Amino acid sequence: MKTVLVLKGSARKDSVSSLVSDKFTESAGEKFNIKTYNAYKLNPKPCYGCGACGKEKKCINRDLDEFFADFEQADYFVISTPVYNSSVPSPLKAIVDRFQLYYAQRFEYGIKPPVAKHKKAALIISAGSNGEGREEIEKMFRRQFTVLNTALEATVFVDSTDTKPITEESLKEAREKGKIFFK
Ligand SMILES: Cc1cc2nc3c(=O)[nH]c(=O)nc-3n(C[C@H](O)[C@H](O)[C@H](O)COP(=O)(O)O)c2cc1C
Repeated sequence: MKTVLVLKGSARKDSVSSLVSDKFTESAGEKFNIKTYNAYKLNPKPCYGCGACGKEKKCINRDLDEFFADFEQADYFVISTPVYNSSVPSPLKAIVDRFQLYYAQRFEYGIKPPVAKHKKAALIISAGSNGEGREEIEKMFRRQFTVLNTALEATVFVDSTDTKPITEESLKEAREKGKIFFK
């Protein structure tokens, strides 16, 4: 059975990005295994830039071992995140930086691709204001995915969440995009 790895970037109980992510993955729930992580609960250590992963193919910190094992096995990778200062909240950013492990395997050991299984990825982004941040976040992940044998194939973006409640239309869009993504 195919597997879906979901990584949620918000700590909020009534998180918009989390709700939209659930709508997006609704159709996958019927046919695939879904495993969900929350970046805040993972509480990842930041990348120290120590270079150990370039020498030993593993990080000196072991707190993300299970997450990375699931990432390597996944067929689909869905990341949901709020925009924080034109980027992602710091626990999610720490995970982004910890993917350095695979950069080291690619560029210091010449392993191409450093992640054997190809993945289709989707981004779910919510922003309090009008659209600022989407481009920066997409750019960051798109660039990182080129090394991770992962292709960004869908983005769902919801804006103005600090002034307007989420609409049925946005939730429907997420469901519909999810159906196409998980076909
Ligand atoms: C620390 C912090 C920084 C934020 N920075 C931005 C920002 O740069 N641009 C923006 O549009 N919204 C910003 N917001 C608002 C959130 O992106 C918005 O409330 C988001 O929809 C929350 O998503 P969630 O409900 O999934 O947590 C910020 C919120 C916080 C708490």
